[in-house]
Amino acid sequence: MGIRDALLLRVAKRWIAGVDIESAVNDAKRANQRGYGVLLNFLGEEIRDSATADAQVNEYLALQKAMAEAQIRGSVSVKLTQFGLAADEMAAAGRLERVASNAEKMGQALWVDMEGSSVVDATLRTYTSALEKHKRLGVALQAYMRRGEADLKMLLDRGAWVRLVKGAYREPRDVVFSTRDEINRNYEAELALLFDRGDHFAVATHDSRLVETAKRLAESRHVDFEFEMLKGIRNELKEELAESGYRVSEYLPYGNSWMAYSRRRMSEHPSNVWLLLRSLV
Ligand code: FDA
Repeated sequence: MGIRDALLLRVAKRWIAGVDIESAVNDAKRANQRGYGVLLNFLGEEIRDSATADAQVNEYLALQKAMAEAQIRGSVSVKLTQFGLAADEMAAAGRLERVASNAEKMGQALWVDMEGSSVVDATLRTYTSALEKHKRLGVALQAYMRRGEADLKMLLDRGAWVRLVKGAYREPRDVVFSTRDEINRNYEAELALLFDRGDHFAVATHDSRLVETAKRLAESRHVDFEFEMLKGIRNELKEELAESGYRVSEYLPYGNSWMAYSRRRMSEHPSNVWLLLRSLV
């Protein structure tokens, strides 16, 4: 690793749990001790060759086993382009099946992240097909997508577990809402649908306004939901929610491919650029 990457990794460690399974499981133990559940993700995306995609599956099988042995409270969250979705949808579905079956064997749930708009259809197809066999399987839904509400209704009809996020990818304006206000309004509309018709879902945001909306909705309908936040972001809010009796989970990514993930986190908040610059001097 060059000096530039070593410095970047120092900053990235704020958001990632390390580069190997051992550090991921240790971080998960610490989160469990603080009262949080965990979602562990092995960093990687846009994989096209089948040997590398198979290696990702093996990593997840080993991770699930290590989590079970350490009695970690939580589950794994995968990206389907890690399993070669963009190159071969059937093969990616087969890889998801292996990880979903193993989750069941280990007594764990499994989550599927949502990626860029070019793979949303394929992700939903692969997810809904796997859901027919595996009930403890969830999927992320991005509130910035204009099509989001229709997708949410389709998922609720199938009894899916949904994790509602704002959306993290750069997308064209005809595909996504682009102002913060529009995105928040759509998030709130989808949140209302989830509290009305959903059960077992996740409110995955660090936005205080949306957290307050979810708390208000939870007063009128008692459903099984949790707050989910990323490692290293709004830790005081996580604590406050857990202390008030809400279920909270922390998303802990790990692995060597931390660059794309860290870039998305840096671009979300200007103060992160200062963190980066400070690490360079
Ligand atoms: P917003 O970005 O408006 O942030 C609200 C406040 O939170 C900010 O004002 C700031 O205080 C704080 N904050 C947010 N991001 C920060 C950062 N990087 N650094 C410092 N402070 C920050 N996306 C996706 O497309 N597919 C997916 O599968 C997932 N999965 C996922 C799981 C979980 C558990 C979470 C929490 C998020 C995701 N995301 C995701 C990411 C999501 O789409 C979104 O990009 C981020 O959560 C940031 O959006 P917020 O809702 O936090 O709001």
